[in-house]
Amino acid sequence: MMQKTIKRIGVLTSGGDSPGMNAAVRAVARTAQHFNMECIGIRRGWQGLINSDFVILDAAAVRHILGLGGTILYTARSDEFMTEKGREKAVGTCKMLGLDGIVAIGGDGTFRGALELSRLGVPVMGVPATIDNDIGCSNYTIGFDSACNTAIDCIDKLRDTMQSHERCSVVEVMGRNAGFLALYVGIAVGATAVLVPEREVDFEEDVVERIRQARLSGVTHFMIVVAEGAGSAIEIGAKIKEAVGIDPRVTVLGHIQRGGAPTGRDRETATRMGYYAVKAFAEGRSGSVICTQDGKITEIPIEEALKMEKHLQMYRYEILEAISSPRGLK
Ligand code: F6P
Repeated sequence: MMQKTIKRIGVLTSGGDSPGMNAAVRAVARTAQHFNMECIGIRRGWQGLINSDFVILDAAAVRHILGLGGTILYTARSDEFMTEKGREKAVGTCKMLGLDGIVAIGGDGTFRGALELSRLGVPVMGVPATIDNDIGCSNYTIGFDSACNTAIDCIDKLRDTMQSHERCSVVEVMGRNAGFLALYVGIAVGATAVLVPEREVDFEEDVVERIRQARLSGVTHFMIVVAEGAGSAIEIGAKIKEAVGIDPRVTVLGHIQRGGAPTGRDRETATRMGYYAVKAFAEGRSGSVICTQDGKITEIPIEEALKMEKHLQMYRYEILEAISSPRGLK
């Protein structure tokens, strides 16, 4: 979409937070200054745009936030923005503040909001950020690497005590309806089994038999990683107890995976994505999501981006099967 010269932009974070959102906010604010634009932070996501809840993001305001977890702009999921009236109010705020464009940092829900706003004539750019890595248009989403590393660190600690007590651990990781986080983490911790929503679970084959095989090959502690979308770790723990006669300890990692300082990968990716979102505005483009595809940054129109699907890389599952639970005894 071609548009008038952009002089002032807004930036917001919306939906579930993820480590690296602050790095993206900083990159947007600093790049805006680089291109002689002013930058306004909209607080509390789309709801903040409705309520005219903002903060000026000059150079000082984004100093020292590159490595901070969470989001200094706060985040929210807004029901009001889902209504026509709410969106009209949001457009009113853009007019009042003289915003020529908005950079929206978040996941699919954030981009659905961005699409609606762009249909009302407000130029928008999207930046994908979610620990779930479940955005179809982009290979990578800001926060995934940090969340993986947090989960890996927690599971390594769990493993120590599971090893001492010769126990079985069932760990539930986040991911909403996707298994990207669980599979990546499962490979990185050498899990006995990983359950993901993308693959139908055969409890006997995928869990019980793997624990047996591991035991028969000399292993005395077991690590089962469950994606939250694949079932409840508590229920899986109870089923293991019944089937194998061991008493697993269950841990739901939960929101701890969303916190903490972003990793180098997340800081760098967030900085690149934030930069390219603003550069697009500076060059007269809008209406797209900044994506990574094969390591390169691309712009994909929001409507198209929302229709794209990303599938779990099943070759990763095969690698896990081959390495974590070899069937050497068969
Ligand atoms: O999308 C990020 C995520 O952390 C999911 O993994 C999880 O299912 C969900 O958000 C939890 O949402 P809330 O923070 O509203 O509990």
